[in-house]
Amino acid sequence: MGAQSAHPSNFKIEAVYHVMKKLFAVMLFTAAVLFLMLPNLSWADDDAAAYKTKCAMCHGADAKGKGNIPDLTSDKVKKATDAELEDFIANGGKDKKASHAFAAKGVDAKAMVAYIRSLK
Ligand code: HEC
Repeated sequence: MGAQSAHPSNFKIEAVYHVMKKLFAVMLFTAAVLFLMLPNLSWADDDAAAYKTKCAMCHGADAKGKGNIPDLTSDKVKKATDAELEDFIANGGKDKKASHAFAAKGVDAKAMVAYIRSLK
């Protein structure tokens, strides 16, 4: 340490500088964590948006269905395996319901299953 920095007023400035450096490091870390989380957050938004545009007109915004359109939050759907649901969304299931295959055009069936599972 030089004679200059040992001077009382210089010491104060150095202490403030030290705290600011620490604060800056914390802010940088927080920004980095948020940045890493961003792709996951926007993925969830994409799934919700895909559901809204491709599925909600039939199954409803809340996925509860109506009339002969099934509730996607039902026990039946909860008990179905991911593979069964994916097959239903992409191909119309075992009976190859043509009405359903068209609905799933360009939809990531796996992501849709995850989205349905996230609904209560
Ligand atoms: C044109 C209306 C329509 C659209 C659009 C639609 N569905 Fe369906 N969906 C149905 C009908 C009707 C059934 C019931 C078919 C049957 O079992 O006879 C069904 C059944 C299902 C099932 C099986 C539920 C069960 O209880 O077995 C799932 C899962 C499903 N839909 C998910 C989706 C998803 C995800 C989308 C969006 C990609 C979507 N559906 C878009 C009409 C639609």
